[in-house]
Amino acid sequence: MSERPKIFATRGIPSPGMDLLQEECDVTVWPHARIISHEELEESVVGVDGILCHYINKIDDHILDAAGPNLKVVATFAVGYDLIDVEACHKRNVRVGHTPNVLSDSVAELAVALILASSRRLRQGMAAITNGLADGKWENGLYLCGPETKGSTVGIVGLGRIGLAVARRLKGFDVAKFLYYDVNEVPWAAEVSAEFTSFEKLLTESDFVVACCSSNTDNWGLFDKAAFKKMKSSAVFVNVTRGVLVNQDDLYEALTTGQIFAAGLDATTPEPISKDHPLVKLDNCVILPHIGSSTTATRNTMSIMTAKNILAGIKGEPLVQCVKN
Ligand code: DGY
Repeated sequence: MSERPKIFATRGIPSPGMDLLQEECDVTVWPHARIISHEELEESVVGVDGILCHYINKIDDHILDAAGPNLKVVATFAVGYDLIDVEACHKRNVRVGHTPNVLSDSVAELAVALILASSRRLRQGMAAITNGLADGKWENGLYLCGPETKGSTVGIVGLGRIGLAVARRLKGFDVAKFLYYDVNEVPWAAEVSAEFTSFEKLLTESDFVVACCSSNTDNWGLFDKAAFKKMKSSAVFVNVTRGVLVNQDDLYEALTTGQIFAAGLDATTPEPISKDHPLVKLDNCVILPHIGSSTTATRNTMSIMTAKNILAGIKGEPLVQCVKN
């Protein structure tokens, strides 16, 4: 019988990290393309030493109890750990690892891509080409025009590592003013000349509203009917964090009644969102399948950090990046 530590992974990770793990552990990866259900996860973790999960997997008492006393570490292949009950892990002396910092730049890059794609109407432009410019409006001087970042006010909700990386990039676009709203103190706001403001003022004054904050039960549904009503009719809303921050029915209404101009979403509820979801059909809404950190370099680095977190956890050594509560 194998004496090697047993790890269950809810999905694969890139080979730099997986190879490291497999040198020392027996790793079982959920073999199906669909996301593992909570019940299936409970069944799969029995007796394991470590769980390698993804941001979409809920790790709670049920999973921890099912894993049992061998479990030493839960490591998520993500920075966000909103679905991990950290307190329940710590009560059982199970440490929790995640992958902060290394993905901030790639997520920020995608936020900028969404800002540009939704303001400059890339979805409609691409559709016009694939449809052979059948709408015949190409000659019109205002064809597919939208707002521009130059001279604009950008409101960042959550000026953490990712929010900061977004602002740094947008500085190069000659943005006139950065506003931010954050429930935490932000030591680096001055670096990007960002001005703290109330959530309401951020909504009413920003041309671009970018959600970069981590999710917790206090901010679920933060972007609701009332919030969208406060935004400018020319505003672009971008979300690169978690779908749960947004009331999607209210966003749909805002996008179809001209309350706001466009939206770009890398996070939705659920994920993946159905192709039949009403938001998916809107040409002023660009939706991506949560690919913020999906650059090859970032994902490889995340995989190594995740593997190192697990290896440290099973040996009782300090994790590379440990979630402390
Ligand atoms: C994260 O790392 O939390 C991302 O949102 C998932 O890729």
